[in-house]
Amino acid sequence: MRLAAALPAALLALCSLTAAAQAPAAPKVPRKPVQKAAPPPVAQTPPMGWNSWNFFAGRVSDQDIRNAADQLVATGMKGAGYVYINIDDTWEGERDSNGVLHSNSKFPGMKALADYVHSKGLKLGIYSSPGPQTCAGYAGSLGHEVQDAQLYASWGIDYLKYDLCSYIPEVMMIQAPNDKAAQMRLMIAAYGKMDKALKATGRPIVYSLCQYGWDAVWEWGPQVGANLWRTTDDIQPNWNSMYTLLNEQAGLAPYAGPGHWNDPDMLEVGNGKLSLAENRTHFSMWAMLAAPLLAGNDLPNMTPQVRAILTNRDVIAIDQDRLGREATRAYSEGEVDVWTRHLSGGAMAIAVVNAGSDRYSTHPFHLSLAKLGLHGPLKAKDLWTGKPITLTDNMPLEIPSHDILLVRIAAP
Ligand code: GLA
Repeated sequence: MRLAAALPAALLALCSLTAAAQAPAAPKVPRKPVQKAAPPPVAQTPPMGWNSWNFFAGRVSDQDIRNAADQLVATGMKGAGYVYINIDDTWEGERDSNGVLHSNSKFPGMKALADYVHSKGLKLGIYSSPGPQTCAGYAGSLGHEVQDAQLYASWGIDYLKYDLCSYIPEVMMIQAPNDKAAQMRLMIAAYGKMDKALKATGRPIVYSLCQYGWDAVWEWGPQVGANLWRTTDDIQPNWNSMYTLLNEQAGLAPYAGPGHWNDPDMLEVGNGKLSLAENRTHFSMWAMLAAPLLAGNDLPNMTPQVRAILTNRDVIAIDQDRLGREATRAYSEGEVDVWTRHLSGGAMAIAVVNAGSDRYSTHPFHLSLAKLGLHGPLKAKDLWTGKPITLTDNMPLEIPSHDILLVRIAAP
């Protein structure tokens, strides 16, 4: 990386030396603006961190972000791989007469906040929209893309979530009413514009698209420089929402890989009415999906059980596997789904989810290894008990309602 960055400068120096030797009195020409070297690649594994929206929504403040940074360190989450602290919507204030956007009174100093987060060895993310307003009605980036990207870089921002919101009614519907193809072109252009602006800063900034999974975003997300794109509507902290979003991921595996990920939305682990079994299933399946692991819970008041789920290193290792191959749904039988994920070194993860709603009995199910192209006996590790398990053909499994069996096989 260092060599690649140094090379153009060395070539330039050589050219100017040669030019100086050959041309004695070259007329003065205006200098071109310095072209910053392309930033190094980001998100080679799915981004991990915490985002303010799922717990704080519009109430988030500078202090909440600092607390989240402190807690990420204190709870061992940073040690487990969580790096980004992402401020979602409602930090934005007004633009001044030069068009420079200022943060609002909840966020008195963005540079100081970024410095604080960086001092903990963490990275800071921010949020905007290609439209004139964000989803919560705050200032968006329309017409100020380059200026905003420069501002983020000057603060030390490392991640941008760019949320479509008002760009639909205020731009797409007005500039191209009744013309879906033209609306698409406008949307793609808007996302491409911010990508260029971010890259021009020379700072490595993760670029996260949020347009709710419409218009087969996975097909064109990489073309506009996205490192991840939302594949779904907003998640809610309950089983039905989580399970609906999970099922919508079937078929999307071919589109994910290092540097470009499907994003079934941020984690609700520890929020709302999710039981411990549901939290386990949610976390396991987001790891199987190679999804970004962005916790969204109240970190200072997290229970030890929720913390144990979020910091399960075996499960995180599935998510962060360097091959970057997302799980596919191998088969479903009634209320039970079986997903598999190929991992580096020829390893494999198998997840068996019991989506049945009977909370008072177990659900005997026979796992068909043949349907997974495998045959037993196979030595594996149960990633929630931490114990070895041997998988046999047509193995009877008793998985409680909304719970999961997640295993890793070293060499199937
Ligand atoms: C949309 C997004 C959410 C959140 C809110 C903020 O609904 O999908 O994730 O960012 O906007 O207003």
